[in-house]
Amino acid sequence: MLIKTHADGFIHPHASEITPERVYRDRRRLLQLMAGGAAGAALAGWAGREAFAQGAPARPGKLAALPGAPSKVAGAITLDKATPYDDASSYNNFYEFGTDKAAPAKRAGTLKTRPWAIEVNGMVKKPGRYAIDDLLKLAPQEERIYRLRCVEGWSMVIPWVGYSLAELIKKVEPAPGAKYVEFVSMADQRMMPNVGSSVLDWPYTEALRMDEAMHPLTLLAYGMYGEVLPNQNGAPVRLVVPWKYGFKSAKSLAVIHFTDKQPETAWNKAAANEYGFYSNVNPNVDHPRWSQGTERRIGEDGLFSRKRRTLMFNGYEQQVASLYAGLDLKKNY
Ligand code: MTE
Repeated sequence: MLIKTHADGFIHPHASEITPERVYRDRRRLLQLMAGGAAGAALAGWAGREAFAQGAPARPGKLAALPGAPSKVAGAITLDKATPYDDASSYNNFYEFGTDKAAPAKRAGTLKTRPWAIEVNGMVKKPGRYAIDDLLKLAPQEERIYRLRCVEGWSMVIPWVGYSLAELIKKVEPAPGAKYVEFVSMADQRMMPNVGSSVLDWPYTEALRMDEAMHPLTLLAYGMYGEVLPNQNGAPVRLVVPWKYGFKSAKSLAVIHFTDKQPETAWNKAAANEYGFYSNVNPNVDHPRWSQGTERRIGEDGLFSRKRRTLMFNGYEQQVASLYAGLDLKKNY
């Protein structure tokens, strides 16, 4: 949309002229938060730790004993030191509970994770509602220590517990024409106070190409650090796609939808030039407002200490690069 001015021909309208005022103000706040980048993240981290110390939510409890053997998935385990549990569970992005990093740990106690069911629908031979406790038992539980790289420039190393999403996909038998899998998070305003805000178009949705969804590294996670997943990290079950920016890993899943068309995603709808469909971690493709070449490891680095170099595909290049052979990763960001 262009607006004609009297003096100098055409100008682009200001965002506030095309977006309702409330939406515009929320987006500006969000963009400011994200532009804060690493320094903002570090400061918010301190605030988060403080909030945690003042009223840490009770840990949800141990999972059944994990099998002693390491993950069967080649390359799944990183040798990096795991982020302390307190950092991983108090410095979160879960916008359904607010946009600051400490909000999910403070507020996600209102999320009721039982009873819970996941709706599997679309182009699939066995659609239906799957009760959460049946779904969790569908395949043997594994521990996978993955790097999580957030698009904002920080990272963590988290020992997740779950099984490959492929196990579920094989059981529900997608129709031959299904090419994409869409993930829809819970969006219940009674349990998730920020769902009423205009910061994103709710529910939070994400999607993968079928081959990405079937890749053995793609994890359906219901635990971390050998314990039940805390609400703020996406209980009762979430996605973890370790070679993509963290926002692809949708939390608190409610629907898994199979389709032949590339689905829209929440972040792509909010800012298409910043958040593409693929969103593979790529140090060579900058975010329009900051570099993606380096990252700060939460819980490890001080505010002014040196950053780490970001790795192609977040260090999982050997496992996943072949999925993108022949694809221009600059265009398909
Ligand atoms: N899923 C939902 N439903 N809502 C969110 O706001 N944030 C994403 C992703 N999944 C988000 C979400 C982002 S930006 C990141 S970096 C990761 O969750 C953070 O996961 P963590 O808090 O477990 O580290």
